[in-house]
Amino acid sequence: MKKTGLLVLFVAILATAVWAQSNDSAAPDAAPQGTAPTSASFPTQRVQTPTYADLYCAGFISKQTLPDAALKELAAHDAILFGAVGVDPRGSAQIPQGILETEILLKMRFELDQYINLRPTRLLPGVPTPLKNAGPDDINMVIVRENTEGLYCQNGGFLYKDTPHEVANQIEVTTRHGVERCIRYAFEYAKQFGRKKVTLVAKTNVLRFAHNLWLRAFEAVKADYKGIETDYHHVDACTMYMVSKPKIYDVIVTTNMFGDIITDLGAAIQGGMGMAASANLNPTRQAASMFEPVHGSAPDIAGKNFANPIATFLSVAMMLEFLNQRPAADAINKACREVAADPKNHTRDLGGTASTTGVGEAICAKLE
Ligand code: IPM
Ligand code: MG
Repeated sequence: MKKTGLLVLFVAILATAVWAQSNDSAAPDAAPQGTAPTSASFPTQRVQTPTYADLYCAGFISKQTLPDAALKELAAHDAILFGAVGVDPRGSAQIPQGILETEILLKMRFELDQYINLRPTRLLPGVPTPLKNAGPDDINMVIVRENTEGLYCQNGGFLYKDTPHEVANQIEVTTRHGVERCIRYAFEYAKQFGRKKVTLVAKTNVLRFAHNLWLRAFEAVKADYKGIETDYHHVDACTMYMVSKPKIYDVIVTTNMFGDIITDLGAAIQGGMGMAASANLNPTRQAASMFEPVHGSAPDIAGKNFANPIATFLSVAMMLEFLNQRPAADAINKACREVAADPKNHTRDLGGTASTTGVGEAICAKLE
């Protein structure tokens, strides 16, 4: 560990995890409370770790989002546990559309070269899914989303803005290097975790340049992984199959934008956003990787104590696994699985009445 001992990180992050979900990190009223839970005590061991709620408060006042100095500080850690980010999708008077997303979340992903966004889509036993005939055996896929290219590069601009001749360009950036390292990661992941099939999801019939590059890179890389079955689906067909026959998917590798879209669909079939974890990985480990629930900050339910904290806990488990702390990761996954199996621990999104803190405590109790 660069800055902290593992136990310190492990326990502190658990505390942070509960905070991150029980309060809305994007809500100015909630951010100042962020320091309290890190000193609250869990039955295991409690320690203080830096949280960046203060960063948010400072930024809110100075109208800065994530200053370079703060990014540098974050980059030097082994891992970042990110609560959530977001604002009213139509924009708000105080915060222009997309500012928090691009200047905080995407800035971290890009600047720290977190080129893999790993999003497991698994239905845990006992968790309700909207799919009528599907169970945990049917919904068990891992989506590998390219995370530093594609339509997310902010490569574009306006011409003649606010005139009838306005032109807006948003260019999809696709590099052989970026695509190949992402596809290779998907195959390596399949190999390491005994997954049998890797499916490329793209749109080669329309995006005949960018996605043709994806397809050619996929064909080249798959030759190095003879034991792994492969497939290709257009993204529109993929959304249909994720609903009608999710079992066909094992590992999916896809572009940044398509990955964004299909992982929300994935979240829906695994019980909702409250169950969907993710990892923004820099597999080279030259800068910190970041772990976050797939959901946003849900300002509408901030401070009400019924947000589902399981996605955050599962993200913590992904973090521990990345830090080679397999037993700790397994313990959290098991605790989440057991807690989620009991309907009395279901928060509103899962059709129950449990509270955020109640579910958090139930998971922590299993870790004692
Ligand atoms: C996600 C989110 C982000 C994305 C937003 C908040 C920028 O939707 O992590 O899936 O589009 O990647
Ligand atoms: Mg998304």
